[in-house]
Amino acid sequence: MKIPVATTPPYDVEVGPGVRGRVAALVAATRPMARAAAVVTTAPLRHWPWSGVDTGLDQMVLEVPDGERAKSLAEVERLCEAFAEAGLSRDDVVVALGGGAVTDLAGFAAAVYLRGVSVVHVPTTLLAMVDASVGGKTGVNLRAGKNLVGAFHQPLGVLADTEVLATLPERERRSGLGEIAKCWLLEGRDSDAVIQADDETLIAVSLELKARLVARDEHELGARALLNYGHTLGHAVERLVLERDPDGLRHGEAVAVGIAFAVRVAARLGRVGDAVVDEHDRILAALGLRRWLPPGLSVDELMAYMARDKKARHDLRFVLPGPDGFELVAGIDADVVRAALATFAAESLGRGATGE
Ligand SMILES: NC(=O)c1ccc[n+]([C@@H]2O[C@H](COP(=O)([O-])OP(=O)(O)OC[C@H]3O[C@@H](n4cnc5c(N)ncnc54)[C@H](O)[C@@H]3O)[C@@H](O)[C@H]2O)c1
Repeated sequence: MKIPVATTPPYDVEVGPGVRGRVAALVAATRPMARAAAVVTTAPLRHWPWSGVDTGLDQMVLEVPDGERAKSLAEVERLCEAFAEAGLSRDDVVVALGGGAVTDLAGFAAAVYLRGVSVVHVPTTLLAMVDASVGGKTGVNLRAGKNLVGAFHQPLGVLADTEVLATLPERERRSGLGEIAKCWLLEGRDSDAVIQADDETLIAVSLELKARLVARDEHELGARALLNYGHTLGHAVERLVLERDPDGLRHGEAVAVGIAFAVRVAARLGRVGDAVVDEHDRILAALGLRRWLPPGLSVDELMAYMARDKKARHDLRFVLPGPDGFELVAGIDADVVRAALATFAAESLGRGATGE
């Protein structure tokens, strides 16, 4: 299955079993002058039988640290030095093979090396397939925060191979499913459709939404904001849990909680009825996602975090469903959010650890 992304320049996301074998053909079709390729990946991934990628070129494999530790300026420098040492030219390509941390890092190194060389993304987590590898956002972290240095750099193409998902740990799978739940809700799909969908369909529907929004808003000036559905509370939950336990929660798990909360805020504001809340809960449950606040988070600290979230600016902003579909709603009374959160926290008591 191919999902076109109409950016400048445009490219396709190919989804399906075995598409990782298409790297050489993609590079030959889009960069006929390329002679060399740098495949960027992490050591743990190289153990898997699927990790060998043939670019059809003179290729080197560069290992970066696994997970978020890859996303530093030091790693960008290390990669660019390795590109230069190998004589990678502007005609050549970088291939990112891994989760979102690898595609973010390798994409950014490709964006800045020689002021821009081409990158092909071969995402290996669900989250990277539906989100990180598509849309052109690349970047690394600073001590001051995540993704504070980066660039827009659209890939030559994205090859999302559903076969590699067989080895993905359950936790990482749930993280991707949180973003998928968001996309299916934004697309207005119902819980029956979610229950029937296989991985390829779950990914493709999510990508169709992302591709459409990215094409309308390549540099994230407006329409892409809808993709923040579930992220206002989700970010707060994620950051506060991770401050206490670096392995406490994955991004998409926090988004699932944020989605369950956002629809409850929408209901409290009279924008949707209880049936919409129930349908949200059914979709989250169908994907095996927990929708309750993790234990130990207080309403006060969550409110304080949301108020200083960079996307909140001066008032509380949520992407919310309503009579005219989903929209970014600004200026929400903090008292309404606090009351909704107090109810949500009370409902969550004792349920955070096990879900349901
Ligand atoms: N650029 C964007 O638009 C965008 C969007 C969303 C997220 N992100 C970024 O993506 C990153 C998170 O990405 P992620 O969730 O993919 O995490 P990740 O890249 O850290 O990967 C998670 C873990 O899964 C392992 N893994 C990857 N594929 C596997 C497979 N097929 N089998 C077994 N193990 C596998 C990795 O080795 C790693 O340990 C964050 O840094 C986030 O900021 C970027």
